[in-house]
Amino acid sequence: MRILGIETSCDETSAAVVEDDKRLLSVVTLSSMDLHAVYGGVVPEIAARSHIEAIIPVIEEAIDQANCTWDDIDGIAVTNGAGLGGSLLVGVMTARTLAITKNKPLYAINHVEGHIYANFLTEVAESSKLKAESYQLPAKQPEFPMLGLIVSGGRSQLVLWRDHFDYRLLGQTQDDAIGEAFDKVAKMLGLPYPGGPSIEKFAKAGDPFAFSFPKAKVPGKYDYSFSGPKTAVLRAAQQAIGENHAFPSHKLSERLSEAQKANIAASFQRIAVETVVDKTVLAFEEFNPKSVVIGGGVAASPELRRQLAERLPIEIEYTDMRLCTDNGAMIATLGCFHAQLDQPTADPYSLEIAPNLSM
Ligand code: KG4
Repeated sequence: MRILGIETSCDETSAAVVEDDKRLLSVVTLSSMDLHAVYGGVVPEIAARSHIEAIIPVIEEAIDQANCTWDDIDGIAVTNGAGLGGSLLVGVMTARTLAITKNKPLYAINHVEGHIYANFLTEVAESSKLKAESYQLPAKQPEFPMLGLIVSGGRSQLVLWRDHFDYRLLGQTQDDAIGEAFDKVAKMLGLPYPGGPSIEKFAKAGDPFAFSFPKAKVPGKYDYSFSGPKTAVLRAAQQAIGENHAFPSHKLSERLSEAQKANIAASFQRIAVETVVDKTVLAFEEFNPKSVVIGGGVAASPELRRQLAERLPIEIEYTDMRLCTDNGAMIATLGCFHAQLDQPTADPYSLEIAPNLSM
């Protein structure tokens, strides 16, 4: 069973071929991030135009890298939500067209579910042109019940799977996603986008206990929020330079010293990560999952990995970073399970995008 996965929900154009839900044959990802960096965030119009230019070459390269022809492909899986409307449209229309012209079944994939399924890839196929030794993959597939933590620029969610296609959203952020909170605090400190890696770099020179930013209290047991801590950062930064709450945030970075920035970065990073780790530990204690898996760009955070290792009684096997961020392989992997477990196929003449698709 070989599935071609197509992912275009945000700024990455990606296609991949996956075999039998665990073997990676190819993954080709082209990001338009460089074009967005000057604006401090993804510009939807630019992302959509970049997908249009990239999508066909990326798919062709994915098939070539897999050493396959179209005859070897058993189905097409495509992200139809959640994501940016214009971006999703490019992937979905391409997949629909290919499903019709190549006569392949089409599977509509939820992007957020896909992030978790990147963790089911355990090997690189020998027949692939990929360098197997350059991929660090888990030794075995996760087991159910499985607790999934999705932490990216657009989502922060905690989900419990009893089995494939049988899951429950336990909780999520009530405002910004954790990656978004990093991006916004980085902007306040005048650090480059994306904020997570910038905060991580600055935090190395700072004291994580220099500031005690509060953790927001929200009603849902597994819900959380980043708006309170973000405002606390703003106030602390204003105070640190001797100004009051009226001082504009975009001028803060000129006045803060490098040491102050480092301390704020380290203290915020500690609290933001603790916020999601607290809920993960709570869910672990209640549901006793056999596996805990992480998806999304923030999985790269060494502070997140450190806190999880320190506080969870089981070891987490992280997948390769190239498979944590948006990619076609996670979509193809989940597509394999759709095909193998007889999930309904999508109609290639009418599949629509679902920008607000929830879990
Ligand atoms: O999953 P992802 O690549 O893209 C989308 O959400 O679309 O996640 C990107 C997010 C950004 O907000 C970025 O700041 C964050 O992941 N990120 C990190 C790190 N690397 C990327 N956050 C914390 N620590 C990192 N090392």
